[in-house]
Amino acid sequence: MEKYLINPNERIAKINKDLYGHFSEHLGRCIYEGIFVGKDSKIPNINGMRCDVVNALKDMGLPVLRWPGGCFADEYHWKDGIGKLSDRKKMVNTHWGGVVEDNSFGTHEYFELCRQLGCDSYVNGNVGSGTVNEMNEWVEYMTFDGVSPMAELRKKNGSEKPWNLKYFGVGNESWGCGGNMDPEYYGCLYKRYNTYVRDYNPDKRITRIACGPNVDDYHWTREVMDKVKHHAKGISLHYYTIPGDTWEHKGSATEFTTAEYNKTIARAYRMEELINNHLAVMDCVNPQKWVNLVVDEWGSWYDVEPGTNPGFLYQQNTMRDAVIAGVTLNIFNKHAKRIMMANIAQTVNVLQSVILTDGDKMILTPTYYVFKMYKEHQENTLIGSYITTDDIYSKEAERSFPQLVESASVDENGVIYSTITNTSATKASKIKCQIADTKVKSIKAEILTGDIHDKNDFKKTDAVYTKTFSDFRQLRDGFTATIPACSVVKFTVER
Ligand code: AHR
Repeated sequence: MEKYLINPNERIAKINKDLYGHFSEHLGRCIYEGIFVGKDSKIPNINGMRCDVVNALKDMGLPVLRWPGGCFADEYHWKDGIGKLSDRKKMVNTHWGGVVEDNSFGTHEYFELCRQLGCDSYVNGNVGSGTVNEMNEWVEYMTFDGVSPMAELRKKNGSEKPWNLKYFGVGNESWGCGGNMDPEYYGCLYKRYNTYVRDYNPDKRITRIACGPNVDDYHWTREVMDKVKHHAKGISLHYYTIPGDTWEHKGSATEFTTAEYNKTIARAYRMEELINNHLAVMDCVNPQKWVNLVVDEWGSWYDVEPGTNPGFLYQQNTMRDAVIAGVTLNIFNKHAKRIMMANIAQTVNVLQSVILTDGDKMILTPTYYVFKMYKEHQENTLIGSYITTDDIYSKEAERSFPQLVESASVDENGVIYSTITNTSATKASKIKCQIADTKVKSIKAEILTGDIHDKNDFKKTDAVYTKTFSDFRQLRDGFTATIPACSVVKFTVER
């Protein structure tokens, strides 16, 4: 029996809702088809946004949406995506499949989407191929409420009032698709571009995010931090879980052995080590801890589904992905003190999506259900939680990982939420939970579980979904439970 201790007296940090953020790029069928179908589509929509997708995302709890890229951001020229639709420039999306980008989804459409979702905005600016002036004017267009050329242009295009721009990223993957720069060079460019990202509204200052490292590039973190520490509130980290050892063979999303499953989960756990190491480097450069970490691209990345455009990054989603999400979101919660935001890649039809669409049909993936189960953590206070657990060794990944990972939070009414992921493909785990200084009134629980390969598809849309969980016994100060193999469980404890 594993011991699980929750300590509500140990109030660690507020869990910023933006840890549950998403990322949607002009890539494959994410924005176009997946979210935006245009006003004239037969698919029910409001101002071009699919109603089924928007409603499902609202229900799941999507707090912030990063846009327009990714690699696309550093080739995006925002003026191409404003004004009369028929006048908008058509261009080639060189990064993603070489398809025509007709710019029908632009700045106005993005903020309309945020309005419909009730979420905050995170816009990523173009450093790689854009000018300082272009970035300066975009920010003026989005946020200035006075008389100026860009504010007048916005009004002419139908938006009298500016929008609320919460986060602004100055470049994306500037070490790679965003310009192949060295960190010292990027750090200097960041300062230059950022100077002209003006705060037109002193009550709503923009939170600036500098381009951070790829995976474990600690040199990048150190050099960029050194330059940006006085000028950025966040620095990004990109880490994808890829089971294969080369980009050509990343592994199938649906066909994998238990050994490959374990390798994938071992690699997902690497997120914890990366967060700790990058924070350590950041804090060496900036012991005052002015800058926080923003994991604005994370998730699984497999080979594309057979027969689909390789540039569209369309992949299926199984219980393996649910476990990756369960593990990662618990890790993020536990680092709530220093992670400001995280954005899974990418919301619909691309990489580890929460939704897949086919024409007018839509399915919710196992990952969707994990986000929905965890949504109560948003804006709660992270509290102390400790669990004993076996380790699972993956020979292929050459590392071991904990079978169980958990986090716990408390809301303003004192209700405790604890999410536990059992990563074992085959072994259930018995736990005994004790909650310090607590008399339990009632407990409710939910579970997402199945075989590691279980998934929803367009033939069987509801093979995986969240169910009520009752395999637990309430105790005076906690509970005992058997957490099934390959599962994500949420306990809600009233005191
Ligand atoms: O999410 C897909 C791509 O992965 C993004 O465009 C890029 O930033 C990263 O390399």
